[in-house]
Amino acid sequence: MIYKSFVRLLAAAALVCGCAGPVPVSNVDAVMDNILSRKSVRSYTDQKLTEEQINTLLRAAMAAPSGSNVQPWSFVVLTDPSEYETIFAGNFNMDKFKQSAAVFVLCADTTVTRTPRGGGEPVVQPNGTWRDDLGAATENLLLAAESLGLGAVWTASYPYKDRYMPPKKALGLPDTVIPYSIVPVGYPAGDEQPKDKWDPARIHYGRW
Ligand SMILES: Cc1cc2nc3c(=O)[nH]c(=O)nc-3n(C[C@H](O)[C@H](O)[C@H](O)COP(=O)(O)O)c2cc1C
Repeated sequence: MIYKSFVRLLAAAALVCGCAGPVPVSNVDAVMDNILSRKSVRSYTDQKLTEEQINTLLRAAMAAPSGSNVQPWSFVVLTDPSEYETIFAGNFNMDKFKQSAAVFVLCADTTVTRTPRGGGEPVVQPNGTWRDDLGAATENLLLAAESLGLGAVWTASYPYKDRYMPPKKALGLPDTVIPYSIVPVGYPAGDEQPKDKWDPARIHYGRW
């Protein structure tokens, strides 16, 4: 891997000259291992999550990038499966939710309050990037789950009205807030493996 050799070379050079180096090689490996190890896990043991684990997952989600750094996300963490038939009525992922140790409902505020450039009263406007922002937050949560040895799967909520309306109502979300994704998390019951998706045919240099 050319990039790994390059980073190792830089790290070695930094060691020799005693200056602060680039990202340590071990971090690069850890990050790539984490990304390439992530896989959807859809069945879980009955082991619970600790509060610390839950906070780690939320911290990762909130570290995501967002358009204009608006951070339009909020999270509802659920751990009582007896409520799920009501909260997620009709959702075909119900078996995963019920088995999991915790269900994370990642919610997006579809509006943003901005003060006009020349000053004046703040105005509420549609936020054009909330889907992208919440996608990034969802992936961060999945990667953190992988790093903790947990299993998780991104289940779609938005844009399917029949999937996002029941939790929107049951959880009492404000009018402008939508449940974007629903992520059950737990200790993996099986032995799911990551898929190799590397495909050079998808890459175009310079032009298509
Ligand atoms: C937007 C989105 C919606 C998804 N919805 C579901 C879902 O409702 N149920 C489910 O079991 N998996 C769902 N998945 C997981 C995908 O099926 C999974 O990511 C894909 O098959 C690739 O497998 P991997 O995650 O193991 O790499 C969803 C993934 C994304 C990104």
